[in-house]
Amino acid sequence: MTDTGVSVSTGLENVADLEATLESLLSVERFDPSAAFTRRLPMDADRAAAEADPNAFWARKAEELLTWHTPFTQVLDDSNPPFYTWFADGMLNLSENCLDRHVAAGRGERVAFHWHGEEGERRTVTYADLLADTQRLANGLRSLGVRAGDVVGIFLPMIPEVAVAMLACARIGAVHNVVFGGFAPSAVRERMEVSDAKVLITVDGARRKGRTAPVKAAVDAELGDLPALGHIVVVSGPGGTGAPMTAGRDVWYHELLATAAPDCPPEPLSAEHPLFILYSSGSTAKPKGILHTTAGYLLGATYTHRAVFDIDPDTDVYWCSADVGWITGHSYIVYGPLSNGVTSVMYEGAPDYPDYDIWWRLIEEYKVTVFYTAPTAIRTCIKWGARYPGRHDLSSLRVLGTVGEPINPKAWLWYHVVIGGGRCPIVDTWWQTETGSALISPLAGVTSTKPGSATLPLPGISPALLSEDGEPVTEGTGILVITKPWPSMLRTLYKDDERFVKTYFSRFGPSTYVVGDAARLDADGYFWIIGRIDDVINVSGHRLSTAEVESAIVAHEAVAEAAVVAQYDEQTGQAIVAFVTLAGDRSGDEATEAELREHVARRIGKLARPRRIIWADDLPKTRSGKIMRRLLRDIAEGRELGDVTTLRDPAVMAALTAKVGTAR
Ligand code: PRX
Repeated sequence: MTDTGVSVSTGLENVADLEATLESLLSVERFDPSAAFTRRLPMDADRAAAEADPNAFWARKAEELLTWHTPFTQVLDDSNPPFYTWFADGMLNLSENCLDRHVAAGRGERVAFHWHGEEGERRTVTYADLLADTQRLANGLRSLGVRAGDVVGIFLPMIPEVAVAMLACARIGAVHNVVFGGFAPSAVRERMEVSDAKVLITVDGARRKGRTAPVKAAVDAELGDLPALGHIVVVSGPGGTGAPMTAGRDVWYHELLATAAPDCPPEPLSAEHPLFILYSSGSTAKPKGILHTTAGYLLGATYTHRAVFDIDPDTDVYWCSADVGWITGHSYIVYGPLSNGVTSVMYEGAPDYPDYDIWWRLIEEYKVTVFYTAPTAIRTCIKWGARYPGRHDLSSLRVLGTVGEPINPKAWLWYHVVIGGGRCPIVDTWWQTETGSALISPLAGVTSTKPGSATLPLPGISPALLSEDGEPVTEGTGILVITKPWPSMLRTLYKDDERFVKTYFSRFGPSTYVVGDAARLDADGYFWIIGRIDDVINVSGHRLSTAEVESAIVAHEAVAEAAVVAQYDEQTGQAIVAFVTLAGDRSGDEATEAELREHVARRIGKLARPRRIIWADDLPKTRSGKIMRRLLRDIAEGRELGDVTTLRDPAVMAALTAKVGTAR
């Protein structure tokens, strides 16, 4: 099938027509690139070159796409797996690659970000503007004592200053540690404490759907006593609340910029200089500080952004709706797009404020050509209805992307028909915080797509499936691994090499990266990601560890024990269900439930709040005392129970089943 022949307006007005169109497309297994789609970037040469010699391929891309101070002579050093290095003797500066080289080429007036505020404010930030602010902030950070290798925390909403903050760190070799704005200040504290952050860049207050919450005051209360944290830089945000400032420690961002010198030449840094730490959830309560370095990471972000989305910096207007606080924002809002010199939209607000059509309004207003979002967002838009996108002209769109979780075929088709007007290729990009950039994904307009499959490895990437015993699986289900190093892979877990090796490279040896996902390979060699095989829950494309949520719950004085599992959820992919045993003879009621949910929001963030709390007198445990989450998942999802013979006390399950049966 080459073209679904669905026009933009078909079925949008009439729900029954749309349903019928989607229903009829459900039987289409494969969508070949439409003849009407004109790809701008040829890819055949890349595939062939990467297959023939992956290292030579990456070396050529690193020369072509990046600007170097000192050219590299080494490509991959794999003499000490899994501690790989790439281009190690080369020197470059990442902010120079994202800014100076575009300005030097006469593209300073090109818009880097069309920033759109929640209340409809517009700010146009050019490459020259970004460069000017980045230099001043870099000098400002230096005046606060920040040196190459020091960690700088960033806790900001979706405003251009977040990109400036990251780029200013990169300019002077400081290592940024961005924390998602939706996380609680206590989570910020933990991440600053373990990384010994010297400076934190934050905001006075953050807006969300018409309300402004104080951020700086909350940061003071949680982080004020951190010994390593010498300074807090405060952006006066769009909500402009003002903030308590401690003399000698706190400084306003705009004052720092106003007094800083305007020129800050980019510091040449080694290709393997640490660029950032980004904390992500693992299978223990302690988040993992994923460390990325300079050249390999930038190459991955730059190359894949171009190749996957078929980006033409001269004509495309690109928008990734993620938050900069996640890896998607790092690679595909900041580094990839800026390195490629493309014009992006940056949106501050929520998808349903002021109305459910805001995203589509922005696409129409800025004539967005490439749009990248998450399956959970698409499912939410489906719930709101096609009439919201139907209000707007979306004909500027040419490529659509998704990321974060498997996309169900129905959502894929809706995206294809309602948003893409049947003509835009959809790229379902599979990757992780650890991988730095997309590894398995269609190339827009090149790869035939199958709804629900991330399709094929990108050039230079070698994924494979293994059985539990490490045998290769050529067709069927297995454990997803990557068998060769790639430039944008994580280098280690911050200050924890041992955990790095143990988490990713112990199961099948030091040169096989274990992803943590299960996947299926079909007869065409297409990958279908099934989901996590560790204790990680994926809520709306955000990774949360069961252990982290459990430890937050048991920190509440009323709780004796807790076990957290994921339950299938139509909207968010997975939802958190907590089985909680209360201390003493306290029994669970609605007030306690609300209190516990609030407690988790305070300790981790709202996205970690359990959807359901099930009060349990006891939890199912093995004879050695390990909680059997598998059985709890069966209960939460209303399935018949799996094997209970290894339980210490099988009666526990009977009691729980009886309880949930009545509660549902
Ligand atoms: O389980 C996979 C899922 O998200 C995990 C990585 O989460 P995180 O590090 O937070 O990064 C998310 C954004 C890159 C993976 O192990 N995942 C990500 N993309 C997809 C996906 N699952 C299926 N299809 C995808 N396209």
